[in-house]
Amino acid sequence: MSFDEMQTLTDFEVRGLASHANLADGHAYQDLGGHFTGIVTQLRSIWATAAKYGIPETNDRFKKAFARLAQSETLGRSANYTICPTASNSIDIVAAFLKECGRRTALIEPTFDNLALLLKRRRAPVMAIPEEFVFDADRHVDLLRLLRAAHCDTLFVVNPNNPTGKCLSREAFEGLAIMCANASILLIIDSSFRFYNRSAFDDYGVLEATGVSFLMLEDTGKVFPTLDMKASLLSYSTDNRDLIEEIYKELYLCSSAFALAVLTEFLDVTSRVGLGASVWTTVDKHRDLLRNAIAGSQLVVAHGSAKSTLSVEWLACHETGKHDLEICSELIRRGLAVLPGRLFYWASADSSARQAHIRISLMKPERVVAAGLERLRAFCQSSSTGSPAKVFELGASA
Ligand SMILES: Cc1ncc(COP(=O)(O)O)c(C=O)c1O
Repeated sequence: MSFDEMQTLTDFEVRGLASHANLADGHAYQDLGGHFTGIVTQLRSIWATAAKYGIPETNDRFKKAFARLAQSETLGRSANYTICPTASNSIDIVAAFLKECGRRTALIEPTFDNLALLLKRRRAPVMAIPEEFVFDADRHVDLLRLLRAAHCDTLFVVNPNNPTGKCLSREAFEGLAIMCANASILLIIDSSFRFYNRSAFDDYGVLEATGVSFLMLEDTGKVFPTLDMKASLLSYSTDNRDLIEEIYKELYLCSSAFALAVLTEFLDVTSRVGLGASVWTTVDKHRDLLRNAIAGSQLVVAHGSAKSTLSVEWLACHETGKHDLEICSELIRRGLAVLPGRLFYWASADSSARQAHIRISLMKPERVVAAGLERLRAFCQSSSTGSPAKVFELGASA
């Protein structure tokens, strides 16, 4: 597929798989590191454990291990969950559910485009809501007004949001849940990046306490370097249980007990040593290296993302005078794959203000990060001469 034919972020990610330095997809491929290597040497005994416990108990052990790391006592005791092989599978079930219920969904923008693509594929009506209406609690009144004006009965948020790194505080999350409960709005939360949030709280507890109707999905694949062996918890309030479980059973009997047993080990090790020692040190180190590589250049951390602790970095490129696709194309010629920002604006990619970002993934092996950043630094140095004309009208939204 040529560069011009690429329509979705995943098209660019697939292209990235064949590049010398792939910092395109957000899947966790960092080096195993000291804390996790023991798991790989114990695969034989983990297999035996998975075979011994069987599916129901393996599911329960995985969910409890996930809840321990997420510090959610509420999730730990919940029976309202299923486990899908990937986060996209969970989103697809959510999309089928929305269509079946005849719901109209407001989904935040920017965010990873496959959420909207999956909803559209299932013919579930979806409209975009700028992320600031969700993450800025002062704008929740306007958010409700927008939802009502657009006749949306469902709000779909990604928290923390990929690519910007925005996170809901406990107060903002609670406010959103109460607002949705009072207005009979179904709240859907994609928490695939939850373990990068440095101010996490028991969001399942908040949902339960507010009594809001909700669906919440999770992912291990953005965090643990398991070469795409991953799982996605899909949880729901009791009112949504029957239909979600019916759709799940049309697609799956269960997830792999072996995969879940391996992932349970990753979760347990991380609970023991802490997210800081096992995950965040790598993100922080790679983010520092990246910021160092672009320092003084016209490629800058996007407005509003300076405090991001996510495993991806959201950069603004308008000062270079080039749009996102030109930058991606120049970088790919140098052997570095990154993502163009416009496709995160899944409903408004054609506006020039939306074409002024690129996204770079950080959770990749040391040698790949080093090779990628060497190319990025060379690109920045080669394009930092002269003062380019600013070709973009800059929108307020970063
Ligand atoms: C927020 C979010 N949810 C879900 C997904 C889908 O994950 P997967 O490709 O592992 O199914 C992605 C992919 O990057 C994502 O960013």
